[in-house]
Amino acid sequence: MKTIFAPSILSADFSKLGACMALTERAGAQYAHIDVMDGMFVPNISFGMPVIKSIRKESNLVFDVHMMVERPERYIDAIAESGADIITFHLEATEHAAEIIDRIHDLGKKAGISIKPNTSVYDIEPYMSDIDMLLIMTVEPGLGGQKYIESSTAKIREARRAFEEAGIDIDIEVDGGIKRENVEVVLNAGANVIVAGSAVYDGNIYDNTRSFIELFEEREKLRKDTMNLL
Ligand code: DX5
Ligand code: ZN
Repeated sequence: MKTIFAPSILSADFSKLGACMALTERAGAQYAHIDVMDGMFVPNISFGMPVIKSIRKESNLVFDVHMMVERPERYIDAIAESGADIITFHLEATEHAAEIIDRIHDLGKKAGISIKPNTSVYDIEPYMSDIDMLLIMTVEPGLGGQKYIESSTAKIREARRAFEEAGIDIDIEVDGGIKRENVEVVLNAGANVIVAGSAVYDGNIYDNTRSFIELFEEREKLRKDTMNLL
């Protein structure tokens, strides 16, 4: 399973958003993780469709939109139209998860479900074979720069095992408190799409991105070498 890096633009300098994102792209990131917050599902308000639309013109990254929005069904079409490639909504925010997944797919986009730290992995069971990605929040959603919740590691492992047992090869994304220092813990637990906000956008964006990408490449090389030995 390929490891994908998804820097979260929430921690970027919004006055030069396009240029900041371009640095991550040049350094090898594949996704831009885009946090849409509505001030209801989470206390903060971040940005919405007009911003996504303008950065879409500037970037070739895969747009991974994380909707922290109450009743996300109201905005799926607009988010798709603004340039999202992957649309992830929170299971806790809606009673219409199945319909939302169908709608996202009808619009030709990939669908993700996200769960908060206190939501059980097993709550997504009815949707396991319909989604393209599971996003496990490793902090309470709403704010960048928080500390990774340690109990998330077991949850990631549990999720990967549940999908494997069901014979489903799925992307598991983790979001919140991921740094170069702890990223191997989540990778080893079974996550393969890695979000990092402050660890990328605080300081030297290019170098920070490279440090993650180089680690992923090293691990991939090691994996291949081991396979060849067997
Ligand atoms: C938090 C957002 C995250 C945030 C992560 O609710 O969903 O994507 O930007 O930021 P860090 O990596 O700094 O925890
Ligand atoms: Zn996010």
